Amino acid sequence: MIRARMPAFDSLLTRRVVVVTGKGGVGKTSVSAAIGLLAARRGHRTLLCETSGADQICGRFGVPSGVYSVTALSPELSTLSIQPEAAIEEYLLRMLRFRKLYEMVFKNRVMGPFIDAVPGLHDLIQLGKVFDLEREIDPRRRARAWDLVVVDAPATGHGISMLTAPRGMMRLTRSGPFHNNARDVAGLIEDPARTAIVLVSLPEELAVSETTDLYGRLGSFQSQVAGIVLNGVNATALPDDYAALRPALLAGADPAGRHAIDLADGLLRRQGAEDRARASLKRLGPPVVDLPDLEVANLGSPELNRLATCLGCAT
Ligand SMILES: Nc1ncnc2c1ncn2[C@@H]1O[C@H](COP(=O)(O)OP(=O)(O)OP(=O)(O)O)[C@@H](O)[C@H]1O
Ligand SMILES: [Mg+2]
Repeated sequence: MIRARMPAFDSLLTRRVVVVTGKGGVGKTSVSAAIGLLAARRGHRTLLCETSGADQICGRFGVPSGVYSVTALSPELSTLSIQPEAAIEEYLLRMLRFRKLYEMVFKNRVMGPFIDAVPGLHDLIQLGKVFDLEREIDPRRRARAWDLVVVDAPATGHGISMLTAPRGMMRLTRSGPFHNNARDVAGLIEDPARTAIVLVSLPEELAVSETTDLYGRLGSFQSQVAGIVLNGVNATALPDDYAALRPALLAGADPAGRHAIDLADGLLRRQGAEDRARASLKRLGPPVVDLPDLEVANLGSPELNRLATCLGCAT
């Protein structure tokens, strides 16, 4: 019996939260958007969250961004930029219930710096916001507001601190409301059935070694890595027999022909680097999925949709 292989990234769509991280500048925001678009195409009501105040997505989709508010990008896809300060204020106001008390206690000159100094508080509360969004109920539908929350997390080291912030706070507090909230957030983020992690890399030695290091540092989160995206792979493939044909081509080539051969040689070197990068990433264990280099300066909605199609087809 021939069994159809399920596209690698479809397994993400059974989760509630997908956290995307990787080295700075490798395409985390683009891949997060592509995952969001893919989920939305499959009919999942999806919220794409930026973190640490990053606010790129609305611009990429050509819509004005709201201030710490959900913006609809399509019927099934919305986005929110999580601002740490706004998330902390929202959380503390909910705990203290009265704005006056919040302003007395936390907005004064003594407590403000104290809040900033609590290790991992910003990261924990951003994940706490993700936790709230995961459980949010849409009163009109009387159902969960979001089928999937995609989190465009900070780069490598900061990404790890964010994932480990709930445990850190649990160790720091040992009991009490902070402890209990941190335990609830850890319960979601550390649950492989509900939260998946996607790493993004590039076909470059430095990016691959940082991905390998990041994967190692993920520790117990490794089992939640559902996929590694090798982003920016050359979309133009050389014929398989190019290397074999090359001497004959070179022998008969005029200057234009030699220029073409130089270009093809460059492509061959690039493909070699991509093959080595893919092989190294595959050794880590999770499925590796290629995304093409779209060769445009800034990816907008059409390009992000192309990346979503590639993710949807990857096996
Ligand atoms: N597959 C691709 N093809 C072409 N350009 C791409 C691709 N992926 C990302 N880019 C471009 O690379 C740049 C960095 O991408 P992106 O902003 O998604 O990375 P990032 O990891 O989120 O960066 P940062 O760490 O700054 O948040 C952007 O200009 C984006 O348009
Ligand atoms: Mg980004």
